[in-house]
Amino acid sequence: MGRSNVGKSSLINAMVGRKGMARTSGTPGLTQQAHFYSINESVLFVDLPGYGYARAPADVRDELAGIIESYLSAGRPLALAVLILDSRREPAEMDLGMNAWLGERGLPIQIVGNKIDKLSRGERHESLSRLRRIMRREDIIPFSSANGEGKRELWQAIDHQIALLRSRALDARTGGPVK
Ligand code: GTP
Ligand code: MG
Repeated sequence: MGRSNVGKSSLINAMVGRKGMARTSGTPGLTQQAHFYSINESVLFVDLPGYGYARAPADVRDELAGIIESYLSAGRPLALAVLILDSRREPAEMDLGMNAWLGERGLPIQIVGNKIDKLSRGERHESLSRLRRIMRREDIIPFSSANGEGKRELWQAIDHQIALLRSRALDARTGGPVK
């Protein structure tokens, strides 16, 4: 999830290595509903509509919250919420709001600084420290759908969270971790 035009759909395509799978556009507001991309039997990417474009923040927040809540209440596990930011810009109120909302629900979050290819070395350093300071997290992944930077790190984060979910599900079936 993330603001309109930060590159959510492009990130999914980059992660999977299939350019035209999720539709992308230079015009913000393209993705208008949740799209599900089943990658294999263990990974499903969900591309969500962006926020900050054309509609009131409260409406968008309620809609995204509704999509996530109904997904979770259908008993489907959410391994990782990936919050995508544009490295060139300050995080917006809505970014902080979504981050807080996910955190309150105890959902694992990975923040990604996208379009990092558009920055010079100096700007890159500045941008990453600004994102860390404002989002209050150390583990922000610099990412570029254009050149593939950050793909490995994001896959590692996803695989790690899937492994955690699996072990929790196993604990729930067997009555707790083996001592
Ligand atoms: P909405 O669906 O409208 O919310 O947008 P989105 O967040 O899905 O963005 P999308 O993937 O459609 O990308 C928006 C624009 O940014 C497109 O023109 C992409 O080519 C461009 N873009 C996305 N990621 C990157 C990146 O890492 N680097 C560069 N240089 N351009 C990118
Ligand atoms: Mg999109």
